[in-house]
Amino acid sequence: MIEFRTLTRAEVPHIWSIDRSEIIENIYFLENGNLILKPDYFDVRGWPPGEAEQYTPTLLDCFDRGGWFLGALDGDQLVAVTILESKFIGKEKDQLQLKFLHVSNAYRKTGLGKQLFELARTTARERGAKKMYISATPSENTINFYLHRGCEVTPDPDPELFELEPEDIHLVCDVP
Ligand SMILES: CC(C)(COP(=O)(O)OP(=O)(O)OC[C@H]1O[C@@H](n2cnc3c(N)ncnc32)[C@H](O)[C@@H]1OP(=O)(O)O)[C@@H](O)C(=O)NCCC(=O)NCCS
Repeated sequence: MIEFRTLTRAEVPHIWSIDRSEIIENIYFLENGNLILKPDYFDVRGWPPGEAEQYTPTLLDCFDRGGWFLGALDGDQLVAVTILESKFIGKEKDQLQLKFLHVSNAYRKTGLGKQLFELARTTARERGAKKMYISATPSENTINFYLHRGCEVTPDPDPELFELEPEDIHLVCDVP
């Protein structure tokens, strides 16, 4: 049985135990504001080298300023995680970023991503946001998942987040 619970600070480095592997065959690009799917093959074997060392301090900073970290556990194994930033962004400062959403390979397509996404959306609303912002990996599966959840390409990407990930697809969704 899968248990959902918020993570402690000490558990943040365990996030890298999630199995990131994925075969990607198509990637989205933005052309004149339209999503265009193009063939591009990646055999993602795991987290990029150095990702854990580089990104853990960023995640701990996010945790320390009140970010929301939710894990899905199968026994004592962390199989999916989502993170909601606490810092408001956007022109109206009314958006919260879904900073992270990953489901271990063997657990995908079983509804876990959807449940974590919707729990993050509820939390964003409870924290006063009008929108949730996602800088999304441009792979076909990921973008189709977010579109299916009602996300749309934002005409106003956050400048800081766009500079960090210019090849991501920057999306927003309502938090009704
Ligand atoms: C993207 C990801 C989080 C989705 O999680 P998941 O657990 O596989 O997705 P779910 O099983 O929860 O999907 C459930 C719902 O989304 C829909 N869905 C899932 N993938 C979809 C796709 N590729 N296209 C369209 N709909 C999709 C399902 O039909 C279902 O919808 P419904 O119940 O409303 O009918 C997961 O595949 C993943 O971790 N991918 C690799 C890492 C990644 O890219 N993370 C995002 C970084 S921004």
